[in-house]
Amino acid sequence: MRQTILVTGGAGFIGSNFILQRMEQGRAPVVNLDKLTYAGNVRNLDRIAGDKRYEFVHGDIGDRALVQALLGQHQPRAIVHFAAESHVDRSIRGPEDFIRTNVDGTLALLEEVRAYWMDLTEPARTDFRFLHVSTDEVYGSLGPDDPPFCETKSYAPNSPYAASKAASDHLVRAYHHTYELPTLTTNCSNNYGPFQFPEKLIPLVILNARDGKSLPIYGDGQNVRDWLYVQDHCEAIAAVLAQGRVGETYNIGGWNEKRNIEIVEIICGILDEMAPRTGARHRDLITFVKDRPGHDRRYAMDAHKIERELGWRPKETFETGIRKTVRWYLDNQDWVRDVTSGSYRQWIETHYSN
Ligand code: NAD
Ligand code: DAU
Repeated sequence: MRQTILVTGGAGFIGSNFILQRMEQGRAPVVNLDKLTYAGNVRNLDRIAGDKRYEFVHGDIGDRALVQALLGQHQPRAIVHFAAESHVDRSIRGPEDFIRTNVDGTLALLEEVRAYWMDLTEPARTDFRFLHVSTDEVYGSLGPDDPPFCETKSYAPNSPYAASKAASDHLVRAYHHTYELPTLTTNCSNNYGPFQFPEKLIPLVILNARDGKSLPIYGDGQNVRDWLYVQDHCEAIAAVLAQGRVGETYNIGGWNEKRNIEIVEIICGILDEMAPRTGARHRDLITFVKDRPGHDRRYAMDAHKIERELGWRPKETFETGIRKTVRWYLDNQDWVRDVTSGSYRQWIETHYSN
């Protein structure tokens, strides 16, 4: 029986955690197709580099000839599609890459996958799955008393990033509705944990605080996000892949809403303990800076459906997950040094200069 899974974007933050988790649980072979943008890092997968069940392919999901060849060669039983441009601030500075990968790239992938799937014979055809990894940001912004997003909430994406993910979600939905491609879509809240590129709030704050640099908080710091430890997200994806109902979407969240200022203060408190500054507290580094344009005020996820249907709930609390995360960044200086060179420094200088 076909076992191989083709993962796209598996050298990024969530994709690499997903592959490591899968391989450690002794499951099927994995082929990882990744373009290695600034956010992709093959070192994330060092632990399994020599594993015969794992193959890395450097390439673009928009390269249809390459995708076609990989599908023909590996005959995967599922695609888990992480590859995307993922940073909201970068999408505000330049949306083109987001449309190219998140929309055009997803369409190219869907087209090749559809052709491959149509040629499969039973039972492989029925067993096949295309799992699309998406975000809570497609639903827009909530007021303080609004109920959390459920799967039937209408889409209202506010940033170019969110709009590009919403478009890709709609394409996946249409491929199921029109062509009966066996798709699954997951929409998840903010992840944190090992291997997250330090342009995102949590790793940025950990590393800036460690280095005694200012901790930039956009606007008044009262924006709310729901935070989920990355390994919980990966387990949720595995559960949806194994037992999710074809054509359905599943919201994934941590039941853990927090204001940005709270997050930063918690990290500062942990660092005061794990890596104290002489004569000062880390929270003294907090600086309020110009707000993100169109900054969504609040996201919250109603993750009852995945719990009810698939029995998934997050294992990690924010308190346990954030301690592990801070420890990981303190203990992995080589990884940090690797990813914070060149283009990273340029981004930080340009983005935070005014
Ligand atoms: P990331 O930016 O860390 O990684 C993205 C990966 O995709 C990188 O390895 C990059 O090289 C690769 N990639 C980019 N363009 C590509 C292309 N054209 N072809 C092949 N590979 C390409 O992103 P992440 O945070 O790991 O997010 C993964 C997915 O999960 C994304 O689809 C994102 O929208 C979604 N998501 C992320 C979060 C979060 O909090 N990080 C939450 C919900 C959903
Ligand atoms: O909600 C899921 C989404 O979470 C994913 O789809 C995205 O890929 C992922 O990047 C993330 O988007 P956010 O914009 O919520 O994450 P980010 O870490 O960039 O910002 C989190 C919050 O912190 C947000 O309200 C903006 C704020 N922020 C961020 C940075 C980088 C600051 O206040 N200061 C900062 O320097």
